[in-house]
Amino acid sequence: MERLPGFRDFYPEPLPHNDVWSCDARQYVFDTWRKVAKRYGFREYDGPPLEPLELFTTKSGEEIVGQLYNFTDKGEREVSLRPEMTPTLARMVAAHERNYKKPVKWFAIPQLFRYERQQKGRLREHFQFNADLIGETDPAADAELIALLIDTLRAFGLTAEDFVIRLSSRNAWQDFYKQGGGDTAHEYEFFQIIDKIERATPEESEKKLTALGFSLAAVTAFIESGKPTVELDSILQNLAARGLRDFVKVDYRVIRGLAYYTGVVFEAFDRKGEFRAIAGGGRYNNLIKLISGGKVDLAALGFGMGDVVLVELLKERGRLPKFDSHMDVFVLIEDETLRPLSLKLVADLRAAGYAVEYPLTPAKADKQFKRAQELKVTYTARLDNDAYVRIRHLHTRDEIVAGFADAANHIEKK
Ligand code: HAM
Repeated sequence: MERLPGFRDFYPEPLPHNDVWSCDARQYVFDTWRKVAKRYGFREYDGPPLEPLELFTTKSGEEIVGQLYNFTDKGEREVSLRPEMTPTLARMVAAHERNYKKPVKWFAIPQLFRYERQQKGRLREHFQFNADLIGETDPAADAELIALLIDTLRAFGLTAEDFVIRLSSRNAWQDFYKQGGGDTAHEYEFFQIIDKIERATPEESEKKLTALGFSLAAVTAFIESGKPTVELDSILQNLAARGLRDFVKVDYRVIRGLAYYTGVVFEAFDRKGEFRAIAGGGRYNNLIKLISGGKVDLAALGFGMGDVVLVELLKERGRLPKFDSHMDVFVLIEDETLRPLSLKLVADLRAAGYAVEYPLTPAKADKQFKRAQELKVTYTARLDNDAYVRIRHLHTRDEIVAGFADAANHIEKK
């Protein structure tokens, strides 16, 4: 039985095949995301993977709605697997915002589902690090979030030569659109054309823009001017003060596909431009109000970073660490009469926090030792009799004999 297209199997390393993903690498990515988010004072939250369909159809915008994994459940409810986390976050914040001091700084690592055409960097499920800051309109909040995005990528060993944050503003595009005589009804349609401009042919873009009363030449001239708005300038200065200016450039080609963005938007890309976006986000100051039916009005911004492009990039740049089983001790059982006491030793060492392996069934001494080596354990421990344990450090080859109760004091954790 084959797995569904666009879904992944995660195996422990060493990987049996290059068509599967590493569960060790996944854990490393999650740990790094968590570590950096906590450094910035973000708290973890989560929501349900299945939501009412309506949460996404009214809030996310056409593109994502066309990719929904939706169905009618056995209670005749219209439901959908979550394609993104932001509407769920907005719902959760709106429901209990009074319990939390502002600004709220929250992160999550949801698995998301989108029925996309499978291609490099795009699958039908992915894990996405989401970091959002709620209840602050000042651009200082935008800078804080972009700094988190940069530091997250740096925590994986990536540098300003590997990636760049392309910073843009829907406000700037809104002004351009209004000055060009565009009407509000077609504004999102206009944004969608800009969003696709890098992937579409000039003829396609020209045709669509003309239909809205704009020319590709005017749009291109605006993009090329690249002049930061007052708001973008303030973000750039804030980042410069942190020594992060080299990681960011103003780039009006970025406008973001999702419907709810209202102001500053940004995306992280590899410098060579070989991969799809590593991360994307921006301000969505109206979404919480929309989702709460006008009851709660809070400014917000955030970003999402997927694991698919990130791991592909880390692999290509040789930035993924080597993963092994990280076992500390292998308890050798060469004399089966000592098995009960050896099991007690295994249990005591595990209780003391060590990662411990041992032979489940009787086995020859050399086979046991080979297994210990395969597991790359640091120590072997073997009962000499019912009172003493012989502990050997496999790298230094030092060997000591310790009293049974004292064994743990002679073992250092990895
Ligand atoms: P998004 O741009 O749709 O934004 O997704 C963010 C990131 O998730 C992308 O840059 C990409 O790395 C990854 N991603 C998206 N779709 C796929 C896919 N089919 N396969 C693999 N990776 C994918 C959002 O989802 C916003 N909700 C982010 C956000 C949070 N905005 C504010 N707060």
